[in-house]
Amino acid sequence: MSNRNPNATGTLGLGAHGIVLGCDYNPEQWPVETWHEDMALMQEAGVGIVAINVFGWSQVNPGPGEWSFDALDKAMDLLHASGIKANLGTGTASTPAWLTTKFPEVLPAAIDGTPRFPGGRQAWCPSSAIYREYSLQLVDKIASRYADHPALAMWHVSNELGCHNALCYCDNSAAAFRVWLQDTYGTVEAVNEAWGTAFWSQRYTAFDQIHTPRLTLSTRNPGQVLDFQRFSSQQLLEQYQAEAAVIKTHSDKPVTTNFMVTAHIRNLDYWQWAPQVDLVANDHYLDHRLADPTTEMGFAADLTRGLAGGKPWMLMETAVGAVNWQPLNVNRQAGELVRHAVSHIARGSDSICFFQWRASRQGSEKFHSAMVPHAGTDSQGWRDTLELSAALKALAPVVGSTVASRAALIFDWASWWTLDADNTPSSHVRYLDQVHAAYTAARQAGLGLDIVAAGADLSAYSLVIAPALHSIGDAHAQAIDAFVAAGGHALVTFASGIVDEHDAVRLGGYPGAFSSMLGLKSDAFYPVAPEQRLTLSDGTTGSLWSENVTVDGAQVLATFAGGPVEGFPAVTVNNRGKGKAWYVATALDASGYASLLTSIAAQAQLPLNPGLDVVVRHGEDATFVFAINHGSDNVDYEFHGVDLLSGEHLDGPAAVAPGTARVVREEKP
Ligand code: GAL
Repeated sequence: MSNRNPNATGTLGLGAHGIVLGCDYNPEQWPVETWHEDMALMQEAGVGIVAINVFGWSQVNPGPGEWSFDALDKAMDLLHASGIKANLGTGTASTPAWLTTKFPEVLPAAIDGTPRFPGGRQAWCPSSAIYREYSLQLVDKIASRYADHPALAMWHVSNELGCHNALCYCDNSAAAFRVWLQDTYGTVEAVNEAWGTAFWSQRYTAFDQIHTPRLTLSTRNPGQVLDFQRFSSQQLLEQYQAEAAVIKTHSDKPVTTNFMVTAHIRNLDYWQWAPQVDLVANDHYLDHRLADPTTEMGFAADLTRGLAGGKPWMLMETAVGAVNWQPLNVNRQAGELVRHAVSHIARGSDSICFFQWRASRQGSEKFHSAMVPHAGTDSQGWRDTLELSAALKALAPVVGSTVASRAALIFDWASWWTLDADNTPSSHVRYLDQVHAAYTAARQAGLGLDIVAAGADLSAYSLVIAPALHSIGDAHAQAIDAFVAAGGHALVTFASGIVDEHDAVRLGGYPGAFSSMLGLKSDAFYPVAPEQRLTLSDGTTGSLWSENVTVDGAQVLATFAGGPVEGFPAVTVNNRGKGKAWYVATALDASGYASLLTSIAAQAQLPLNPGLDVVVRHGEDATFVFAINHGSDNVDYEFHGVDLLSGEHLDGPAAVAPGTARVVREEKP
């Protein structure tokens, strides 16, 4: 999971900024006169890098064997002349009309097997050999032409791979799925075993009987659905790798693609992807459909740092203001752009890039915010951009420094896929909700977290939180147990440890994989309706879930005071070796969750900063204390150094005003 080119971000040395300001630049949507104005304004704003040619396929390759580079040449030259670097797109994200007209089999199919039409974007099947051939031809042309262009800083493969087309159910995908199954399992008997096909007479006797898990009359085989998720993530990763391999025959500049670590994209297992990119880049947009979008932003950035193996990473896209794709596109309030950018930088990003430079006049995204809005520079968006630009300049010393947390949260795509599958004990229990609840409780308690994979090395941590870690293999469960036995503190929540890596239930009682570590087991679940509250004996409440836990060594901290399992344990702790393991058998309310974490953190001797979002980045000579106040009251914090944003020298408690942030450089003794 390490970043193969740790110097790629932060040391690109772009523009005036240490923290790079950048954007998607789509000059093809504008007349050339506008490009000159763009260059002047980019210089004014201190833009250091632009993602260009991201959707350029139909422009540079207007027909089979036809190539037209004039416009891209001109744009690249202009960028260079303006001192701006290019994050050059391979242009493969969106297919040109001629390709899908000539080869309709490139088009992806929906879950019912019907084709999805061109006219939007990403209308290609990840398993299409024709798409692969033509896209690589394009990459080869682009990479060979621009490898030595002086504007080139890095390569942007495709765009948000899998944003729309991750799960394709066409016949080509079925054929590729069979090959993947053969490679993974060897024999059809092994597939039967992994998927439990004795159930409902689903047994296969040959690979060619197996399809993608298309829409069925009843529910689909969950093992098949899980493996299809894994296969689909892998197929797109192979497209990334194929494009990167072509680029690398021409260029030694860093290659990456923009991940979508957000609240609503779940199809790609980025723990598998991260080791394959030269630097980790993420796109993050605030999701106002969530109860607490700002906390989710912190979670996504912490997870991105985890994917980057702790190294600095790149925020490749966010919005200056509102997006255009939510039911209600909430704009950023005054000061929020800087505060939100600081939250990403605190968590390891060494750049802030936007979608996009200039707001489009046409197309689906014409109402998406941009650095240069429709109104031009006499606008809130432009003023916000300049304010941010100044802040990024002031934060230059932070570049390259890293975060070191002593508490971690385990995040796992297979648990997401299996817990959110059909026919679980409660469709109201959603994996990401439970992860966000744990992260939110940690934030409320003032505890900073790393986000790690199941199976990660836990030795740097004193506390590990495993929320709803539903699917887990033996080795990964044993690693958590060993961490506890060696003196660690672990908090495991309900729905964890129940199935193995094939989604087969672990026998002998729940929470299967963690029963011994936790010193307890249950034999039946009692989920409750979303609106029902379950009072616990300590006065806190739970919701969504209860189960009939009996302890076998664990100490009971709270019981259910009502509901379907009145009197049964709801919160427990077990001494295990030199450490302790807590279990929570319900969805604790926010303040109950935060106080439990406060008490566990005290036992793990972890510092807490309630009321503020505090993250520390460690540099060679200095540490950078990021203290962000997302709330509505002044909060004091003790600083000893210079606030890079305000220039103030602080030595003792100082207020962080509501809606603002301080980034204080403290010299190392
Ligand atoms: C991203 C995408 C951009 C743009 C943006 C709008 O998902 O990469 O091309 O569509 O969303 O928010």
